[in-house]
Amino acid sequence: MKKQKQVLSSGTVEMYFDAAFNQLTKLVDKKNAVIVTDENIFSKHRSKFKNWNVITLKPGEQYKIQLTADAIIDQLIEFQADRSTTLIGVGGGVITDLTGYVASIFMRGIRFGFVPTTLLAMVDASIGGKNGVDVGAYKNLVGSIRQPAFLLYDYGFLNTLPDMEWSNGFAEIIKHACIFDARMFDELKKHSLGRIKKEKKLLAYIVEKNVALKLAVVKKDEFEKGDRRLLNFGHTLGHALETQYDLTHGQAVALGMVFAAWLSEKILGLKKSSEIIQVLGQYKLPTFASFDTDRVFTILVMDKKRVSNTMHFILLDRIGKGVVHPMKINQLQKYVSTYTQLNK
Ligand code: GLY
Repeated sequence: MKKQKQVLSSGTVEMYFDAAFNQLTKLVDKKNAVIVTDENIFSKHRSKFKNWNVITLKPGEQYKIQLTADAIIDQLIEFQADRSTTLIGVGGGVITDLTGYVASIFMRGIRFGFVPTTLLAMVDASIGGKNGVDVGAYKNLVGSIRQPAFLLYDYGFLNTLPDMEWSNGFAEIIKHACIFDARMFDELKKHSLGRIKKEKKLLAYIVEKNVALKLAVVKKDEFEKGDRRLLNFGHTLGHALETQYDLTHGQAVALGMVFAAWLSEKILGLKKSSEIIQVLGQYKLPTFASFDTDRVFTILVMDKKRVSNTMHFILLDRIGKGVVHPMKINQLQKYVSTYTQLNK
């Protein structure tokens, strides 16, 4: 188990890479901890949860809602949890977001940590301290920013990860490369999904590199007033598409990144946007979408990056250099409309 530490203004995050699930007992007192997980993870890894207090939720983004948070709180009361209890989210992004949210509000805040079990949760969802729930069609509308005390990485969980989930994780990895790291973008171009799945050392390198990239920007701008906004590359259109169509988060973000790359070409003269399309395809992500502009735009305007009638849209100056580009909502709507015409 490899330990690293990051000090952020709202708390210190300890990271344990190359760890095993059972090493959790070194970080928490089993009797005074409650695990939150979902039925899929629980049934696949039943023996790991023996003698732990466990709250098992139904799997799926549709359960990332206040009602589920209330149900977790009811069960915490049944477990007689108190201010000294540690809550541990074992799962993907839905579980880590819900766990972080409940831990932030239960008794005005208790200690929490995560064991991310999907690639997406390992490189993105479990890092950064943003947590919360969806409200109707609006993703993550309610929540808080509070850092987990620890992250424990057991790569063994990835052995049973479905193909779709690998692509979901790579959408965020490609995003990190596009906005921060041209070298990693070139590395991703050289590798393939098949090779990374087989070569555990390469996989661990990619995960740790992405954790470091995300934590570095979060550390600089924990409360998203500046550079942290770059992490929203592909997410403005992506989130709107995700709630309106039957798409995974990674698929929606991939389509959002293709649109943002097209827009970067138009506005900032980005070159080589075709390479982004190529790499997304390489990691089995979609790159072409025809959608209803009005339907998507109704959701898009509620994005948290909108301030009055201006949207802080994330564009690329070049591959490896994201920029925050303020745009008037009506200007953005025109671009989305032109883009959908081109894709008809
Ligand atoms: N929990 C994800 C983030 O803070 O970005």
